Amino acid sequence: MCGIIGIVGDYNNTNDIINGLKSLEYRGYDSCGIVGLVQNKFIEAKSISKINNLEKIIKKNKINTKISIAHTRWATHGKPSLVNTHPFIKNNCAVVHNGIIENFEYLTKKFNIRKNLIKSDTDSEIIALIFDKLLKQNIDPIKIIKQIVKLIKGTYAFAFLVKETKKIYAVKKGSPLVLGISDNFKAISSDILGLPDTTNEVIFLEDEDIVEINHTNFKIINFKNNTSKRNKHIFTPKKNFLIKGKFKHFMQKEIFYQPTSIKDTFFNYLEKKTKKIFLPKSDINFTQIKNIDFIACGTAFHACMIAKYWFEMFSNVNVNVHIASEFRHKKNINKSETIGIFVSQSGETMDTLQCLKFLKKNNIKTISVVNVFNSSIARLSDLIIPTLAGPEIGVASTKAFTSQLMALCMLLLNFQKLDNSINSKNYSDLLNTGNSIKKILHKDSEIKNIAKHLVNKKSIFYIGRGLMYPIALEGALKLKEITYKHCEGYAAGELKHGPLALIEDNIPVIALAPYDNNFLKILSNIQEIKARGGEIITLTDKLGYKKIKKFSHSTLILPDTKSYSAPIIYSIPVQLIAYHLAVFLGTDVDQPRNLAKAVTVE
Ligand code: G6P
Repeated sequence: MCGIIGIVGDYNNTNDIINGLKSLEYRGYDSCGIVGLVQNKFIEAKSISKINNLEKIIKKNKINTKISIAHTRWATHGKPSLVNTHPFIKNNCAVVHNGIIENFEYLTKKFNIRKNLIKSDTDSEIIALIFDKLLKQNIDPIKIIKQIVKLIKGTYAFAFLVKETKKIYAVKKGSPLVLGISDNFKAISSDILGLPDTTNEVIFLEDEDIVEINHTNFKIINFKNNTSKRNKHIFTPKKNFLIKGKFKHFMQKEIFYQPTSIKDTFFNYLEKKTKKIFLPKSDINFTQIKNIDFIACGTAFHACMIAKYWFEMFSNVNVNVHIASEFRHKKNINKSETIGIFVSQSGETMDTLQCLKFLKKNNIKTISVVNVFNSSIARLSDLIIPTLAGPEIGVASTKAFTSQLMALCMLLLNFQKLDNSINSKNYSDLLNTGNSIKKILHKDSEIKNIAKHLVNKKSIFYIGRGLMYPIALEGALKLKEITYKHCEGYAAGELKHGPLALIEDNIPVIALAPYDNNFLKILSNIQEIKARGGEIITLTDKLGYKKIKKFSHSTLILPDTKSYSAPIIYSIPVQLIAYHLAVFLGTDVDQPRNLAKAVTVE
């Protein structure tokens, strides 16, 4: 899949275009190019190596434009070469394209495009030729777009730069595209990562939306010529992630950012109108995958554990989860029909990176789920799935973790499916996750009281079953990391095989107990703990509350969940308990002792 960016503003925005391209480089980097309009002339630059090289060419040639479109290519039709590099410029228009036009030969004939005008091997150039031909017939650009795209078979996101109108036009079907709005510019990009940092608002465009932008205005219309109303979302610039704002700590800010990061990650991969999932393209043949090795460290490892449960519940793939530092010493690895999936916030964790190199050496395809999309792990993997959590500053990972879960969920829902649409049940479960998180954040003071109660406890336990087991581990890890208190996460059914010996009067056990298939079993475990004097703190939902309240010292009622949303939703109170307890204890919340955000040692 390729990356598209276009900006029209009242300032020279070539730097923003370059930064945008660098952010989109994870979508493909076989070649890249830009075209801008300067004094009514197209000025272009292209490179068949990385964006850094394009940047050098731009600087050398002093290219500065207020309106331009650019592209980073993942080659499908035609090898990586300058002639196959986008944008395609034909007299009065320029075009960049993401997707595949299956019937480009038919379109060539239909619009009577002479073969000698076609210089590249791509399926995209023909669109520029048709567009130019229709412009010469004085047809309005929007009408031209409608005329062309109605005939296209395949998926596309296009951006057109038209000399005469000095506007950028864009249209999409099956490939992602967002519109970035600011007072002094409008931009389109394949995802929000590509938008300038000064963007104020974002619109996730839907299939068959046609957009027209100049620096003051934008217009979205559909194929029937009606104006399309789309929700605007607040854009968070990167620099905003680096200040605490109204929050006391970065960790607190990052916990409260989760309704946004979850939604951003969801909509980065899901087309609202068709409910189809679009992951970046790669040459991995998912239909042939029989085994997955998930590899990660710390919190990211817990995300992998949850993914294992999901894959085992909803697919026939054989899944193994490995702590990176342990996997490195493995002698026998599964090689056939296997992929390695690496999950890492920083994308730099040394143990994870070394495992990736090891699998690559063994010719095993690799996918990385990373929050830093130009990190070492991202650059080395065959497919990058970014989590759109924004920079995470607090050492204890929070928003990156829940975004990893959302991204892994999208990967699973798309796995081995020929038709990549998700059913309405899963769609609404995931769509509502952001709102459910907001509801929990409103209960912050209730959660703070739970934390206050833990201040003088010497030891704390988290228990859960199924999908809640990795969250119990994560809850215990969060608590250890930032409060320095002893805390253990356990599979509830495993307590009786040892740790029950540690339960005595008033030892707090936090039970993660949504009313799911495991509920009655964890209820029995809770009674076993209660019988030994343990103090039960329950995180459950309304139905669970009715059955569990009489055994609980305190209960937090959470929104109802389903299999995909449950681990994401139950992560939030677990993070807040650790956060508030750390604040009560006066530890350094954002930079706890002995730890680091990116661990680049083995
Ligand atoms: C460190 C951090 C953890 C993180 C782990 C893995 O230990 O303190 O919060 O989960 O590294 O980091 P990664 O960047 O690979 O997700």
